[in-house]
Amino acid sequence: ADTLGSAAAGQGRYFGTAVAASHLDEAGYVSTLNREFTSATPENEMKWDATEPSRGNFTFGAADQVVDHARSQGMDVRGHTLVWHSQLPSWVGGLGAADLRTAMNNHINSVMGHYKGQIHSWDVVNEAFQDGGSGARRSSPFQDKLGNGFIEEAFRTARAADPAAKLCYNDYNTDGVNAKSNAVYDMVKDFKSRGVPIDCVGFQGHFNSNSPVPADFRANLQRFADLGVDVQITELDIEGSGTAQANSYADVVEACLAVDRCTGITVWGVTDKYSWRSSGTPLLFDGDYQEKPAYGAVLSAL
Ligand code: XIL
Repeated sequence: ADTLGSAAAGQGRYFGTAVAASHLDEAGYVSTLNREFTSATPENEMKWDATEPSRGNFTFGAADQVVDHARSQGMDVRGHTLVWHSQLPSWVGGLGAADLRTAMNNHINSVMGHYKGQIHSWDVVNEAFQDGGSGARRSSPFQDKLGNGFIEEAFRTARAADPAAKLCYNDYNTDGVNAKSNAVYDMVKDFKSRGVPIDCVGFQGHFNSNSPVPADFRANLQRFADLGVDVQITELDIEGSGTAQANSYADVVEACLAVDRCTGITVWGVTDKYSWRSSGTPLLFDGDYQEKPAYGAVLSAL
């Protein structure tokens, strides 16, 4: 196979990228996207601040552009994300508990309803746990006003809103076995034992020299898969360059392929020049859409 998407398909996986609607008018961006990738995640367009900037007023224009483009190319779409502390409009944080619960469920129902039947996997809840050794929940309007049960409630609402979509919990610094991933693991185990609907766990995979690809990445993916959920690498980027970066990318692909329930990999952008890590070069194509060594490493690992 000579593209990321076709090579991954040969392994029964998808290979995706974050897509920004604002770049869909750029020929090099679109030709690379269409040729190489079989899944798309709107980078910002489905977030709460984009889809419900004021209460009850839903705006789907930019997200629709990404979804319509992806689907016209036969790509899967990952929905990202419904309940998250960041890119959250300030009105949400101003609500009291009862209103917040209503608003959260209405947001899930409205956004998932708009895309019903069109989304492969939804990141229902994003980044709800703290970094560091505590294993505690992160402070957010949802956590602080609704308590631990907000995650379960969000997943139950999501299941009813689009029963065909896989429902994922997504987070970062959970790639290896550590206190934070242990806390997510315990939550997923509890959900599975009590029949709370959850289908997948997303591992963002934002790596750099302070946070390299962990040696126990595969083992960590496997222990989650053994709970009865799919696992996905959802926002992969690896700072660095050359052979070192290429080798790290190959390590990630090999970890996923070693786990039957690792169903796909998404990199967090098509080209270095539009990466959210603006100081870095963490992706597979350079600013001229030329293949980097990391691209070759991924292709041959697939
Ligand atoms: C980032 C986008 O790439 C940026 O364009 C935006 O300014 C901030 O968010 N974890 C996530 C993603 O789940 O939504 C974030 O995306 C990166 C970290």
